[in-house]
Order: sequence, then structure tokens, then C-alpha cells
Amino acid sequence: MTKSLTIRRPDDWHLHLRDGDMLRAVLPHTAAHFARAIIMPNLVPPVVTGAQAAAYRDRIMAALPRDADFTPLMTLYLTEDTDPADVAAAHAAGLIHAVKLYPAGATTNSASGVANFDNVSKTLAKMAEIGLPLCTHGEVTDPSVDIFDREAVFIDRVLDPIRRSHPDLRVVMEHITTSDAVDYVKSSTANLAATITTHHLVINRNHILAGGIKPHYYCLPVAKRESHRLALRAAATSGDARFFLGTDSAPHTDANKLLPCGCAGCFTATNTMSILAEVFEQDGALDQLEAFTSLNGPGYYGLPVNDATLTLTRQAPSYPPHIDTPDGPVTVFDPDMPLNWSVA
Ligand code: NCD
Ligand code: ZN
Repeated sequence: MTKSLTIRRPDDWHLHLRDGDMLRAVLPHTAAHFARAIIMPNLVPPVVTGAQAAAYRDRIMAALPRDADFTPLMTLYLTEDTDPADVAAAHAAGLIHAVKLYPAGATTNSASGVANFDNVSKTLAKMAEIGLPLCTHGEVTDPSVDIFDREAVFIDRVLDPIRRSHPDLRVVMEHITTSDAVDYVKSSTANLAATITTHHLVINRNHILAGGIKPHYYCLPVAKRESHRLALRAAATSGDARFFLGTDSAPHTDANKLLPCGCAGCFTATNTMSILAEVFEQDGALDQLEAFTSLNGPGYYGLPVNDATLTLTRQAPSYPPHIDTPDGPVTVFDPDMPLNWSVA
């Protein structure tokens, strides 16, 4: 039985760090295990210009523990007013690594997102020209579309038309939750990849709704039925270079989660690597963990893999049920299964 596993240090290709006190509280959890992360720009107000991204990066660097080795990979929040020249300049300066598309109103802090996709066409054309990836929150916001169908409908109504108009645009479908998305990625021949979260490999919609409502399992896109979870597991553990980890670790205080209208997001930064080792071992794919967490992402983003390594040992880890922040406790995602791997 494998007792220890050493892999290249992982990266997180989709992460919410927030700002201020929350940033200072959650950042050490990511920096402890991950070398780099794609930083989501959905602050209030959102990070829409290169100057704002530079200032946010500085705040993240200032919040880092002294001994940490962590590089934030910044993104811009796409709006209908985004200036293609500003995007290109931020990319040329090495500041940003992606632009994030939120359909207006799709999720937490997405009010400034895109409503009319024709109005972002010039920016998308510029991004295609310079090779800057578009990260998509892939859910339509049409209230007549069932929430469990919003990802599949987004592919047909929004994503596929964008990719046909901009065939050279490099796209990352973020936090995919359906077999439809897995199939769509696999059917493409170029310029398409997807991130998968830790929690969507573990929970299906029963975890949220059966036996009482569990707000800590509520995130967006919402977890789907079991067949979709199994499709995500097969994709993640397959070694296919088009699939890689983006935790979507999204801290909200318990006070904001446990409301009559609670926030969406699971906080997984703390225990993700232990959970993933468990998931991959359960599927007989421990040998593919490194591809998913440490190789495929840099490959798609055109970055070198990390030199440093991370070692997991077969030993039951102990994680706190929540972390304390000045804003209040943030519950750590409960994988609802025993964990057998600790980060050394
Ligand atoms: C994210 C957040 O809280 O910022 N929430 C979530 O459920 N994933 C936003 C997002 O990525 O959709
Ligand atoms: Zn997210």
C-alpha cells in the first residue's frame, strides 16, 4: 500500500480570496499548499481595470505570511465597458493571466457582468489575438431556465456561439458540474479546457437537500445529480490534460451562509489536497493526482510547472470544522467521508 506520495506543488486555477480581513484570514490556507492561483475578480466593486488588478495583487502580497511562497495570477472582470487596450496592456505587462466572464446576475457579486454578449466582442477578439484565456462562469441567468439546467443551456446559447465567432479564443470552462460540460470539452479539438472543484467531485444535490437543507453544501453552479458527479470524477481522474483543479474555494462567514437567503460558496482551501488524494485513491487513480493538480493547468496556461514538491502521507489528517476570521467563523467544507491523507 502506498504510504507516501510526492507530487509537483499544486496550483489552484480558480480561487476567491476576497479582500481585507477575510483575505488575511484565508490566504495562508491556500499558500500553505498551493504555489499559484488564478484569483477571481468578483470583489465589490469588481476588479475591472489593469490598475485595479495591480492594486489587488499588491494587497494579496502584503497579506501573505512572511515565509510563504505563493504567486497570485490576476484576472480582470469582463464588463460591457471593458477596454480591449487596457486588457492587452495588463496582459503584456505580465499582470493578468485571464479575463473572467460572469453573465450578469449569475452568482455572488456578478451584477456588473455581461448581459449583451455582442458588447464584449471587441475584447474577445483582442484576447484571441494575444492568446489571453477567457474563464467562464457557465450558467445562463434566464429565470425561465431551471437552475439544474443552466450550465447545459449556457453551452448551447452562449459558449458555443462565442467559440464559433472567436475560434482562436482560448477558453476555460470554470467549475464544471455536468456530463454535458465534460462531453463538450472532450468534443473540442483546441482552445478549450475546464476546471473542476474539489466539492463537485464529492457531493451531489442530495447532500444539499436530502434529510434537511445544508447551506454549507450550496454553491454555484449548484451540485447536480449523481450521474454528473461520476462524469466529473471520470474526467478529473483520467489524466486528460484538458481537465484540472480549480477549487472555487469561496469563503463566506457562517452568518452569511445561514440566512433565509444564504450565500453560495464552499470553502475548501484548507483540506482540498487531503480530499483529492482520497477521491483519486478511491477511483484507483492516485497516479493521476499530480496531472490534475500540478501539470495540466500550467500546460493550458502556458506556464512552467512548479519546481517545488508537496508530499502527502497516509495518515488521517485533522482539520478544524471552521476557521476564525475577524468577520466571524467560516466553515471548512465537510467531505462527509473519512480522510486518510495528510499534507506532510
Ligand atoms: C462564488 C463566490 O462566493 O464568490 N460562489 C460560488 O458559489 N462558487 C462565486 C462563483 O464562483 O460563482
Ligand atoms: Zn468561483
